[in-house]
Amino acid sequence: MTSYITKKTMGDTSWFMKDRFGMFIHFGLYSVPARHEWIKNTEQMTDAEYDKYFEFFNPDMLDAKEWARAAKKAGMKYAVLTTKHHEGFCLFDSEYTDYKVTNTPYGKDIIKEFVEAFREEDLKVGLYYSLIDWHHPEFTIDFLHPLHFHADAEELNKTRDMKKYAQYMRDQVRELLTNYGKIDIMWFDYSYNEEGSYRPPTAKAWMKGKGKDDWESEKLNDLIRSIQPDIIINNRMDIEQDIWTPEQYMPQKWLTHPKTGELVTWEACHTFSGSWGYHRDEMTWKTPDVLINLLINCVSCGGNLIMNVGPTARGYFDKRAENALEVYAEWMKYNSSSIYGCTMAEPEFKAPNGCRLTQSVDGKRLYVHLIEYPYAFLEMPGFAGKVKFARLLHDGSEIIMTEKKVPHFGVGLNENDDLLVLSIPRVKSDMLVPVIELILK
Ligand code: GLC
Repeated sequence: MTSYITKKTMGDTSWFMKDRFGMFIHFGLYSVPARHEWIKNTEQMTDAEYDKYFEFFNPDMLDAKEWARAAKKAGMKYAVLTTKHHEGFCLFDSEYTDYKVTNTPYGKDIIKEFVEAFREEDLKVGLYYSLIDWHHPEFTIDFLHPLHFHADAEELNKTRDMKKYAQYMRDQVRELLTNYGKIDIMWFDYSYNEEGSYRPPTAKAWMKGKGKDDWESEKLNDLIRSIQPDIIINNRMDIEQDIWTPEQYMPQKWLTHPKTGELVTWEACHTFSGSWGYHRDEMTWKTPDVLINLLINCVSCGGNLIMNVGPTARGYFDKRAENALEVYAEWMKYNSSSIYGCTMAEPEFKAPNGCRLTQSVDGKRLYVHLIEYPYAFLEMPGFAGKVKFARLLHDGSEIIMTEKKVPHFGVGLNENDDLLVLSIPRVKSDMLVPVIELILK
């Protein structure tokens, strides 16, 4: 077994740390304007201006079974869907608001469709719930709220009571955890009260950010645990929870607890493009090599990766998203053994230049990901005497091993008793990142 001890979690993260790879789905009214899920803020829209998206919300081509099949084919083992984003619109039939999908032309409970379709494909299901709500009448206007630009914003706040909003959140989370069967992850988003967190230049002194006291996070957490004790909760309620969630960047080491230094359970979340919600004209789509390297890097640092798709307003994944998912499908079809049930390699195994290592949690298999394809030989100091057999993962073909020196051409160079040398095919296969599987002694 690998030797890593992670910080104990309240939720059951055992399946999570095995499955490693998930799909995020951001879907809502913002999918209609198709200019980013923050459009109500960035274009300073009032409710009245935003309501046209409610009136015309009708994803007539939405097929959650198709979403689930695409996720499964890409090698994703779980999925998290937005139940309500910052806009406040609910994708489920909540009894606590009229601002919900069952009152739109679409008329059906999307969360119900989602959980049923993904469970049918044996995928775990998670629900994203925005703590922020730019539609709710009791949510006080702060520096992120679309109304914060209006002259009467401060006056308006005197009529708003965040305690009533916190109660609304508890009522809705209770609905989500009671009416849709076993939910594996609750993914909250997000707190912005930390000193030094982003504040726009237009922010006035009274527009303070929000955190655990505004959300009444402890009460919300207790409610969740009382209904579904095994559920995984993320760390964005401004209280410590099960998983840490670095966003749109690639940690270079296993994340540790800021106070205790313990290894934490973590998941990096990324978009395929520069937007979480469908953005028709946004062009910064991650290239295939970045997509695969992100996944390998996360697991090589003991973490998970969740990649986001923003369905179109018609409800389907557009071609660009399909192509990105196909990159994962093609690579995972042959190389998923280096991801599922794997984690960071033991410290005795140092990654050669241009490579990333993962190791099976049972300690028996080590995976060398050839991020930079080596010419002819791969020198691996410290590995001699530890490897029983080596093969390319995608086709199972043997990789010849030599110990102590590079055969033939390397006479007299780099000789060392602990050196293992792998002979590498001169021509790289069409595998985006070839992987060598080392069966350890
Ligand atoms: C950021 C974005 C939000 C998105 C979230 C996903 O908080 O502002 O729109 O839902 O990331 O992690």
